[in-house]
Formats: sequence, structure tokens, C-alpha cells
Amino acid sequence: EKGGYDHFMLKEIYEQPRAILDTFRGRLRTNEAIIKMSGVEDNMKKFLNADRIIVVACGTSWHAGLVSEYIFEDLARIPVEVEYASEFRYRNPVITEKDLVIAISQSGETADTLAAIKLAKSKGAFVFGVCNVVGSSIARETDAGAYTHAGPEIGVASTKAFTTQITVLTLIALRLARAKGTISSSDYRHHLIELELIPGKVEKVLKSDDYVKTIANIYKDVKNFLYLGRGYNFPVALEGALKLKEISYIHAEGYPAAEMKHGPIALIDENMPIVVIATKKGHYDKVVSNIQEIKSRKGKIIGIVTEGDQQVKELADHVIEVPETLESLSPLVTTIPLQLLSYHIAVMLNKNVDQPRNLAKSVTVE
Ligand code: F6R
Repeated sequence: EKGGYDHFMLKEIYEQPRAILDTFRGRLRTNEAIIKMSGVEDNMKKFLNADRIIVVACGTSWHAGLVSEYIFEDLARIPVEVEYASEFRYRNPVITEKDLVIAISQSGETADTLAAIKLAKSKGAFVFGVCNVVGSSIARETDAGAYTHAGPEIGVASTKAFTTQITVLTLIALRLARAKGTISSSDYRHHLIELELIPGKVEKVLKSDDYVKTIANIYKDVKNFLYLGRGYNFPVALEGALKLKEISYIHAEGYPAAEMKHGPIALIDENMPIVVIATKKGHYDKVVSNIQEIKSRKGKIIGIVTEGDQQVKELADHVIEVPETLESLSPLVTTIPLQLLSYHIAVMLNKNVDQPRNLAKSVTVE
């Protein structure tokens, strides 16, 4: 059932090229330059009339929501707020019929997310679900939705659910951008073509697995990790840190790279590994100067860089290359090495990768 892999998590990491493809199959029609998702088409008015989008989710799904904030605002020019479902529902939020709520959940059973949906509906908002499990409570409770087609995710640490959630949200953002005219037709086409290339690029990143394993072996015994990213890759830094915490029980924090100087820089010494997502385009020069600041404090740098990168390579202790893509799609490739890194560290520390202590696959308590 693990298909020859030692753990479900590893199997699911490796399934991502296929899962992403399944998620856009039939929806992304590059030749015709259209995106077709019935849940969106049938409710286009609601989407186009929305003053803002409120995303509600927990954990990794919340990170996918954060990525979507960049995509929706950048491409479709719709203001987005991303909320922890639990905080949202307990603070008397302002919600109106002009709000479009997007609830993201792999399991479709997360109690806090479900409760946030009920609250939003009671205030008249239109609620759209992005779930993986077909027929789940959240899929049933929402007004409309689009499934991720990741297939069953068994490992408690979410991997392929995350990248397929981003895929669905990207499709929606592109569809809305086209309908609103906030994207040029050439830019739109470019996005479709590049999105179609993502499964192959993820496949290529997976080839760095052995190298990631050697990095894991070097740092497996440290007590703290820092993950930094900017823009689209800030949520990826958060997700990388969460993966490491969950399965290896090593303390890790994700930060927007520019925030480093406002506090976390004090943590940096020669024992601190810092994973920096420093792909080209995404404020590259700024990230390079963040890396220089780390280096001058003797922190150990693991860079996630674009193929052929020179500048970061000269500064970093290790670099993992990912293929070039559009900045808006880069989280789909930069996430992969971070998943692999946490996986290998947890295995080396003899942790129960698929069922980490204290965690459940669906959190049905509030
Ligand atoms: C992370 C993880 C959790 C879930 C969170 C939400 O690896 O597994 O943080 O992402 O509990 O779960 P869903 O997406 O099922 O609502």
C-alpha cells in the first residue's frame, strides 16, 4: 500500500507531479486558453461581485491560503484576508453578503474550519470550499467548491494536499483575473503554459533527494532551525518550519526574510541552520543581502535557489536547485525540498514519520 516507499509521507511527496496534474487535468485547457471549473463558472457573479475574499483554514491549509493571498491580489486584484479558522470565529468578525469566503481543508473535517464556515454563512457570505476528501463535512457545508485531486493523503504531515490546494487556488485566481481583465491575454497564456510545466519541474526537484538527504544528515542533531522567504515564498518558509516541527520535533520558525533584522537575527550563531528560499525574481537581491547578514554572523545557510544561480552559491553552505518558473508558481517547486528535508531528518532521528506524537490526521475537536 506504500507502493514500495518506506513511509506514506515519502510516497505522497513523490506523488506530487501526478497529483498536481490530476488537479488541473480537464480544468486547465492551454490550447483553448481557458480554465474550466464548474464551481467557479456557476457562481461567477458571486466571485466578481465580491469586495474581498476571506480565506479560512488551519495548519498547512492556512499556509496554502497565504500563498493564495499573493496570487489573488497580484493577478486578480481582489483584496484577501487569510484567517486562522479558530481565531476568526472567536472574535466577532465583520462579514457581509459582499464577502466571498474560501475554506481550505484537506480532510474536510476540521472542526474549527467547519465552525468558521457556519458563522460566515449565517452572516450571508458565499462560502466556497477547497477540499481533498470527496463528500466530507466541509465539502457538504459549503455553497460550492472545487476539489483537489491529490488522492488519499495518509501521512499526518500534509504534503501533496498543500501543493494541490495551491494549484486549485491558482486556477481560480487566473480564471477571475481573466474575467476581470486584470491580466493581459499574453500574461494569462504564459501562466497556463507554465502551470502545465509544473509537474515535470516537481519531478526534477525530486531528483535532488539524495543531496537533500546528505544535508539532513549534517543538521539532524541541531535543536533549532530558521526558515526564511519573501513574497510568494514567505508562506513556504512557514510551511517548511511546520513540517520539521511536526515530524522531527525540532524547533523551527518561519519568518519573512526582511523581518529577521527585527528580532530573530539575535538567534543566529554558528550552530543555527537557516533555510533561505532565494529563487530568482522573488526580491532576489534583497534576499541575497539577508543571506550576507546571516553569513557575517556565521549562521549555516541552506539556500533554495534557481538552477544556475551563482550569487547565493558563493555565500551558502549548501544550495538546492529548483527549475525556473514564474514567481507566482514558485511555491509549487520550492516546497518540495523542504518536505524532503523534514522527512529525512525525522527518519534519521527514528521518529514516527507517518504518525507523529500528539497529532491526528483530522482535527475534529475545537
Ligand atoms: C500539517 C497538518 C495540519 C493540517 C491542519 C488542517 O501537516 O497536517 O496542520 O494541515 O490540521 O487540516 P485540514 O487541511 O484537513 O483541514
